[in-house]
Amino acid sequence: MSNMCPDNLIRQLNRSSAAYEDPSSLVPWDRLAFDDYWLPVEALSLSGLSEFEHLDENRKQALSRYEFLNFIEAGIWLEGIFMERMARGLRQRHSSLAELRYRVHEIREESGHTLMFLDLIERAGLELSGRQWAPLVLDVFARLVPLESMEFWLATVLGEEVPDQMNRYVRRHEIGVNAAIVQMCALHIKEEARHIAYARELVRVKAGEASRPRRAVASTLMNYLLRRFLDAFYCPQADVYERAGLSPGSYWQGLARANPTRRRFLNELIEPSIRLLQPLGLSVAAP
Ligand SMILES: [Fe+2]
Ligand SMILES: [Fe+2]
Repeated sequence: MSNMCPDNLIRQLNRSSAAYEDPSSLVPWDRLAFDDYWLPVEALSLSGLSEFEHLDENRKQALSRYEFLNFIEAGIWLEGIFMERMARGLRQRHSSLAELRYRVHEIREESGHTLMFLDLIERAGLELSGRQWAPLVLDVFARLVPLESMEFWLATVLGEEVPDQMNRYVRRHEIGVNAAIVQMCALHIKEEARHIAYARELVRVKAGEASRPRRAVASTLMNYLLRRFLDAFYCPQADVYERAGLSPGSYWQGLARANPTRRRFLNELIEPSIRLLQPLGLSVAAP
């Protein structure tokens, strides 16, 4: 592995990551409750629809619980694939001890996030959906794209930025949202800021070295993968609605997919990534 990231950034990231605290130990689990929202109403897939407005409060809260569970199950897949790639990369030759150290820090932090998610599921008495999470194309791409490529780090930026924007949305709209959930999101944001800074820097360096045609091909590929990603992770499947007591789930899933408020919300989540990538000659667009 070549040392692609400036030494001062790596040093700073290592310094911030060194004082590690298990995030789950910082969540006020005693405040976890079912008679709260687990996501702001505006962040729910049915928000803005009259069919949703007519649901009673308990049903809306149940939906927020299962949509949040859906969000963290997606997070478990994302973090799992990232840890897998970072761990496999440890076997390669390394030229920079500091960068190797930072990647191990990222594995520890992602592992902490996943443990925090599992703690939530267990403490709330919920169960994993048991569904195969990512569509095959995302799974295959994420496993096989070369670790040191621009394309890997570009996908990493998107895979970290979009959920991070969701966490930030929760923190900005925390009134009425359960305190344990808000704290989970805040703890995730804190560590993710470093991961995103690192991935962004690698994309910046690698995009600067890539030819214009390669950047164009990468942009087309990312647009395709981003659409599949948003579709799989942010447009809940029918079983999410069923579990929240909204039956038949396929009816509510159809409403959510056609929901213009939801589309606007998702566009808001990807907006910062688009703005970041544009000056690098990478044109990712809102689907
Ligand atoms: Fe994470
Ligand atoms: Fe991360």
